[in-house]
Amino acid sequence: MNEETAYYEPLQQQRPLLSVKNLSVNYGAIKALKGVSLDVNSGEIVAVIGANGAGKSTLMTAIMGDIRRSGGQILLNGLPLPERSYQVVSAGVSLSPEGRKLFAPLTVYENLEMGAFPLKDKNEIREQMSHVYELFPRLEERAGQYAGTLSGGEQQMLAIGRALMAKPSVLLLDEPSLGLAPIIITEIFKELTAINKTLGMTILIVEQNANKALMLSHRAYVLQTGTIVMEGRSKDLLSNPEIEEAYLGGKKHQ
Ligand SMILES: Nc1ncnc2c1ncn2[C@@H]1O[C@H](COP(=O)(O)OP(=O)(O)OP(=O)(O)O)[C@@H](O)[C@H]1O
Ligand SMILES: [Mg+2]
Repeated sequence: MNEETAYYEPLQQQRPLLSVKNLSVNYGAIKALKGVSLDVNSGEIVAVIGANGAGKSTLMTAIMGDIRRSGGQILLNGLPLPERSYQVVSAGVSLSPEGRKLFAPLTVYENLEMGAFPLKDKNEIREQMSHVYELFPRLEERAGQYAGTLSGGEQQMLAIGRALMAKPSVLLLDEPSLGLAPIIITEIFKELTAINKTLGMTILIVEQNANKALMLSHRAYVLQTGTIVMEGRSKDLLSNPEIEEAYLGGKKHQ
């Protein structure tokens, strides 16, 4: 056994926190996911990058139990995740969905409260709310404002905050950059790094914005029409010519 294998062996033996195995999802005749497998280890940020229609949101909604899978397994800490969405959240996985999907006629505070439904203890909810307010002070300033009247960036912060209110062990993020100005995207992604570092939060993010997602994450998978076609360390993928050409807008981009 050489030194390299000795070094990597313990990592391979580590049980992933979230494990997607051979996941398939069909919408009628459309095969949206064709046997997708990926692992997310505790404390990691893992990105799935892919173009429009690659199956990124399908992957997220299938993990959350919002659509029926036609095959495969999803394990959290080695145990199968429940099938129903509210049970998935209670088990420790929550999603900040594509397009935020906030409760527009409810206030910021009420949206956050809704996210805390798996928590039974009032003090625990209050404590979690203050963590979220610490991460996103703007949400505290706007606690009484209707979610529908927030700016796009604030709405995204609220969607992430609402997902965090359930005290997840894994946070799923579906395109948090969608429709936001570059400066706001930078702010949100800085916050995601902080959430990972300060809370030790494990994150699985799907993004069309490959550059931002690869800059943020430790490891990444490339999803192409329902199949994982490449995986690796994010910093290696960032400098991979194929990725650069297909997902980073060619050599001149950034
Ligand atoms: N409810 C649905 N019924 C039928 N087909 C669907 C449905 N939802 C998604 N699809 C199809 O499944 C494929 C994957 O869609 P999905 O929304 O998962 O892609 P995506 O990678 O999230 O795309 P985007 O970057 O545009 O958000 C696409 O071909 C899409 O048209
Ligand atoms: Mg999507």
